[in-house]
Amino acid sequence: MAIGYGKVILLGEHGVVYGHPALGAAIGVGCFATAREDRTDSLSVELAGYDSKATKSGHGFGGPLPEPGAFRLIADTPVDHPEQEKMRRAFCAVLDGYPRARPPLSVSMRMQVPGGAGLGCSAACGVAVINALDEACGLSRDHAAVAEASMPWERVFHGNPSGMDSAIAASGAVALFRKSAPLLKIAVARTPLMVIGHSGVASSTITTVQAVARLHATHPEKTREVFDEIGSLVAQGASAVQEGALSKLGALMNRNHELLSSLQVSTPRLDEMCAVVRQAGAWGAKLTGSGGGGCMIALAPDQPTALALVKALQTLGRDALIVQVGVQ
Ligand code: PMV
Repeated sequence: MAIGYGKVILLGEHGVVYGHPALGAAIGVGCFATAREDRTDSLSVELAGYDSKATKSGHGFGGPLPEPGAFRLIADTPVDHPEQEKMRRAFCAVLDGYPRARPPLSVSMRMQVPGGAGLGCSAACGVAVINALDEACGLSRDHAAVAEASMPWERVFHGNPSGMDSAIAASGAVALFRKSAPLLKIAVARTPLMVIGHSGVASSTITTVQAVARLHATHPEKTREVFDEIGSLVAQGASAVQEGALSKLGALMNRNHELLSSLQVSTPRLDEMCAVVRQAGAWGAKLTGSGGGGCMIALAPDQPTALALVKALQTLGRDALIVQVGVQ
């Protein structure tokens, strides 16, 4: 079974678009795929959701989750459904990277991560599909090459992505990412225990990245200062993770959230969720991913506190789950 991991951004989103580093981490949920020879190239998709005891719904996150269900796409047959058509085009884009003289392949994919949540769903799917196709074609390549091969898929969904999600989805690592540079894996001294809370509102990476670009154009000096400070938080955060100084990482996350709020990518709901988990004992909390909705993350000192954070979020009516970050 081939896998692509979902991810959270511990520190550094948005700054990464402007060349600063970001600290990302794979999570133990993602997307699974297998491929076998068939009569035609096709992609079968099952929207499985994430079944966790920590959630009430049994499907992980509520809100904008696509209805659990299944559909099948034939590579050369366009469909009316816009999201499914995007996935068909993404599938064709990665198939273009394989030799023409191969047998037709049928890929089955199972998604645990919701889309539009800032958890790297599309990258996890792209990487899982590439890994499954590689297995079926007897190809073997390293994580960086898999991430690179999945970029045509990711571009169908995100236009001009930084590539961070794909790099993390392929590596399963906690890592420093900087645009156009190799991923720098971080040796984790102590595995961070993270609670992910879903705001119940879908986020759009393209929309928030464009909004920040407008802010950058109108207030270049102020935004540059913010990006510089975010970059410095990332450097300090990487050392904190290496040293196992997780309460320090929590403080850096809190400051990063303030800076993201100053870029106007947080929402009152995300702010409220962060405040509630801090009160319930989190070492730190911030939005993760593009913002404007999607998810927030909270760093828990231990399992009982992590459960208390999930409860606090559920009291607000938000779904939450506990994950360990860094899978490999
Ligand atoms: O919401 P996500 O998971 O697509 O993360 C977006 C992170 C940004 O830094 C805002 C954009 C990017 O391409 O890195």
